[in-house]
Amino acid sequence: MSPTIWFLTGNAGKLAEADNHLTKLGYSVRQLIVDEEQLFEPQATSLEVVAESKINQALSHLPNEFKEGDMILVEDAGLFVSALDGFPGVYSSYVHSTIGNLGIIRLLNHLETEDPVSSASLRSAQFRAVAALWRNDQIIIGEGVCPGHIATETMDGNGFGFDPIFIPYDLDANFQPLSAGNYGEHSTHGKTFGAVDLEVKNKFSHRSRALQNLFSQLPSA
Ligand code: IMP
Repeated sequence: MSPTIWFLTGNAGKLAEADNHLTKLGYSVRQLIVDEEQLFEPQATSLEVVAESKINQALSHLPNEFKEGDMILVEDAGLFVSALDGFPGVYSSYVHSTIGNLGIIRLLNHLETEDPVSSASLRSAQFRAVAALWRNDQIIIGEGVCPGHIATETMDGNGFGFDPIFIPYDLDANFQPLSAGNYGEHSTHGKTFGAVDLEVKNKFSHRSRALQNLFSQLPSA
C-alpha cells in the first residue's frame, strides 16, 4: 500500500488543491485534523520558519491510523503586493480576516489607470507558498511563486482567501510565467483565481509549484 500524505490544514480549499496535484503523482492525501486550540500560528518573518514550526506541532498530534512510511505535509502561503512593499506577506491571514479583499483593493485604488497593461504592472503582486514535508525524520522544503496582479474589483465563484482579487500572469507553452501584459499559451483571460475552477488554478498556483518543487526532490511514488 502506498504511503499516505497527511496534510495539516483546516483549509478545505488547500486540501482540495493539494489532493488534485498529488493524486496525479500517485500519492493519497488525507487531512490531518488537529483542534485549532491545540495549534499555534507562529508570527515569524519567513514562511519557512512557520512551515517548520507546523511540522513539529503535527508530529505531536499524529492520528492513530498513521503508519510507518507515511508523510506529513504542511504549507504556508501569503500574498505580497509590490506597491505595498510586499504587504500583507506573512501577515496575510490577519489582513484577510480584518480588512479583507475589499480592503486590499481600496489600498490600491490610487493606482488605477485606463491602460490594462500598465495597470497590470502597477498592481503587481505575487502569491508565495512554502510547503514542508516530513518523511523518515527528515524535512524537505519546496517553494512556489505565482506572479500576477490585483484586480480592480472582486470576482467570486470558487476558491478561498484572496482568490477573488488575484489575476495570475499568463504562462508560456512550458508553463513558465510571463511578465505583465504578455499573452501566453495558458491564460485565465483576465479572470481571478476566484473565477476559475481548481484545475485551472492549479496550472498557475504558487501551491502547486511549491508541491512540484518539493516532490521533485523525492523518488517518484
Ligand atoms: P495561510 O497562513 O497559508 O493559511 O494563508 C494566509 C492567508 O493567505 C489566508 O488568509 C489565506 O486564505 C490566504 N491564502 C493562502 N493561500 C491562498 C490561495 O491560494 N489563494 C487565496 N488566498 C490564499
